[in-house]
Amino acid sequence: MSWNPEQYLIFSDHRLRPALDLLSQVPLAAPAVIYDLGCGTGNVTALLSKRWGEAIVTGLDTSDEMLDKARQDHPSLEWKEGAIEDFSPASKGNLIFSNAALHWLDNHEVIFPKLLSELRPGGVLAIQMPNNFNAPSHQTLYMLAQSEKWLDKLGHLVRPAPVHNINWYYDLLSPLVSKLNIWETSYFQVLQGKNAVLEWTRGTALRPFLSELEGDDIADFEEEYANLLVEAYPQKKDGSTLYPFSRLFVVAEVSDE
Ligand SMILES: C[S@@+](CC[C@H](N)C(=O)[O-])C[C@H]1O[C@@H](n2cnc3c(N)ncnc32)[C@H](O)[C@@H]1O
Repeated sequence: MSWNPEQYLIFSDHRLRPALDLLSQVPLAAPAVIYDLGCGTGNVTALLSKRWGEAIVTGLDTSDEMLDKARQDHPSLEWKEGAIEDFSPASKGNLIFSNAALHWLDNHEVIFPKLLSELRPGGVLAIQMPNNFNAPSHQTLYMLAQSEKWLDKLGHLVRPAPVHNINWYYDLLSPLVSKLNIWETSYFQVLQGKNAVLEWTRGTALRPFLSELEGDDIADFEEEYANLLVEAYPQKKDGSTLYPFSRLFVVAEVSDE
C-alpha cells in the first residue's frame, strides 16, 4: 500500500494531539537512544528530538513516500527503511515510541513483548493506536467492501480489529514490566471541509482499499463510500463535521536491573 504524505497531513493538528498526549506521559529525563517506529512524515520524530536534544533519534518506516518527506523536512535526523515486525536494532533503545502505526500490524501478542525486549534496562515503550474500528467511518467501509459488488476485489482486506481492549494489554504486558500506564481517550474532533470524514480516511483507512482497485472502480467505490459517510456524519449548518475518534495508549517501563 502506498501512502500520500500531503493527504495524511491535511488533519495534522488533530493527528498530532494524541502524539503530544503520549509524549507527555513518557517518564524519562534523558534517554540516549530513541526509536520512532512507523515514523511517517517525521513530524513526531522531530518533536522527540526537540524534547531530548542530546539523544540519537531514529525514525523507521516501510513507506518510501513518507520517508522522503521526513528526509526533506528533517534532514538532520536518522531515517531508516524497515518493518516494525523486523525491528532488531544493533543498539537497544531507552525509548521506543510509536504513534498511530501498530494498528497496521496484527499479532500484538508477539510484537509488544518483542519491542520490550529491544529496550535497555529502565527503558520505556510508548504506543498510541487508533481504536475506532467499530465507528461508522470504518464499519461502512468494511460493509461496502464485503457487499456483493465489491467482495471479490476487496473482501480480503477486511480483517479482525487489530487493537484489543485495555484488559488484554494489561494481562499481556504487566508480567513483563515494572510500571504500566494504559488509557483510552475519545477525541471529539470537529473537522472542517466538505465530506471531511472521507477526507480523513483518504489519508489512512481507505488507502488499502483504493490501492487495490483500478480504473473507474476507484472513483466508483469512493463515491459509494462517500455517500454512506455523509449519512453517518452529516455536515453542521456552520460547515463543521463532528468525528469522534477513540485511541488507546500504552506506556510500559521495563525494570532498571
Ligand atoms: C498513520 S501513519 C503515522 C505516522 C507517524 N507516526 C505520525 O504520528 O505522524 C502510520 C505509518 O506507519 C507506517 N507503517 C505501517 N505499517 C508499518 C510496518 N509494518 N512497519 C513500519 N512502518 C509501518 C506507515 O508507512 C505510515 O507511515
